[in-house]
Amino acid sequence: MPVITTIDDLKRIHKRRTPKMFYDYAESGSWTEQTFRENTSDFDQIRLRQRVAVDMTDRTTKTQMVGQDVAMPVALAPVGLTGMQCADGEIKAARAAEKFGVPFTLSTMSICSIEDVAANTSKPFWFQVYTLKDTDFMTRLFDRAKAAKCSALVITLDLQILGQRHKDLKNGLTAPPKFTIPTIMNLATKWAWGMEMLQTKRRFFGNIVGHAKGVSDPSSLSSWSAEAFDPALDWDRVAELMKLWDGPVILKGILDVEDAKKAASLGADAIIVSNHGGRQLDGALSSIRVLPQIIDAVGDKVEVHFDSGIRSGQDVLKAMAMGAKGTYIGRAFVNGLGAMGEKGVTQALDIIHKELDLTMAFCGHRDINEVDRDILLIPKDFSGDWT
Ligand code: GLV
Repeated sequence: MPVITTIDDLKRIHKRRTPKMFYDYAESGSWTEQTFRENTSDFDQIRLRQRVAVDMTDRTTKTQMVGQDVAMPVALAPVGLTGMQCADGEIKAARAAEKFGVPFTLSTMSICSIEDVAANTSKPFWFQVYTLKDTDFMTRLFDRAKAAKCSALVITLDLQILGQRHKDLKNGLTAPPKFTIPTIMNLATKWAWGMEMLQTKRRFFGNIVGHAKGVSDPSSLSSWSAEAFDPALDWDRVAELMKLWDGPVILKGILDVEDAKKAASLGADAIIVSNHGGRQLDGALSSIRVLPQIIDAVGDKVEVHFDSGIRSGQDVLKAMAMGAKGTYIGRAFVNGLGAMGEKGVTQALDIIHKELDLTMAFCGHRDINEVDRDILLIPKDFSGDWT
């Protein structure tokens, strides 16, 4: 067994163990993948300020996200098809998150349904919705999430239409996989994944199949999004949807100061600065590059969370020091899940926590709530001089 010390170690095992179409689904960005790449490479441009002779005892990474206690400011992001990376994937990831004390966000495009995750976990999780044309389905989805006692609603605003990820088209991505010759040949090399998948009934989009009408191929993310998602979404509709929920509402997919101001003015409890992991508009700026200006514009009006590009605890610290009040990991936990199921997600969380805790200490802090931009060395032109 290799010694696992980084998220990259988990990613290598994930790649080996999981069918190509699902590994590729997680590891792609749209079109040229420029934004996908820059989400991580831009983090490397920010350096940290080392401090010495500072008492490092009794450190804490505990804080709150939308008023809820978290063991560290890292939530599991909504990731579609998580239950295809590993059998019962959403349940396993949610269990790892609840044991660790961080929020798990279930995607509408999950394999395990809301009810199933609720029945197999003991703490409330968060639920993510896209904005869909079918208002009845949408209302029922909200009711289902309320009945499952979800403790926050995340509304995704940057996926009215699906960005093109070349690999998904080339691989013929569906859940479950359709048996084409290349897929059969690839599945034949993934026997451990296949054995576990054969033992579960959770192999379809659990929130959709049997619940949504008029979808020509419910196994295909691209057909479902093309037919069901609402391309006419506007801020009035967002405001209407927000009213349907009783608890905290988090608006996800904000990358522009004007949109951040609008979201804050609607009374969102939090916004997530995110470019959807570089999976939507290729050529958009990385999330970490736009974070400072969004915090400067609305950080005193709404809780600003950060997503897209986090692969380490150092990245978490950088985003928090910029002024974010919480962060999300998507691929980093999926790498753990695809590598080793629930244990792998726990390991991903442990790795990130350790990196966060030690880096915070080296920067002279003991409490994550006290870090600020003072610990960061940010290149002068980091936010760019764009016209
Ligand atoms: C869904 O949200 C995706 O990015 O595939």
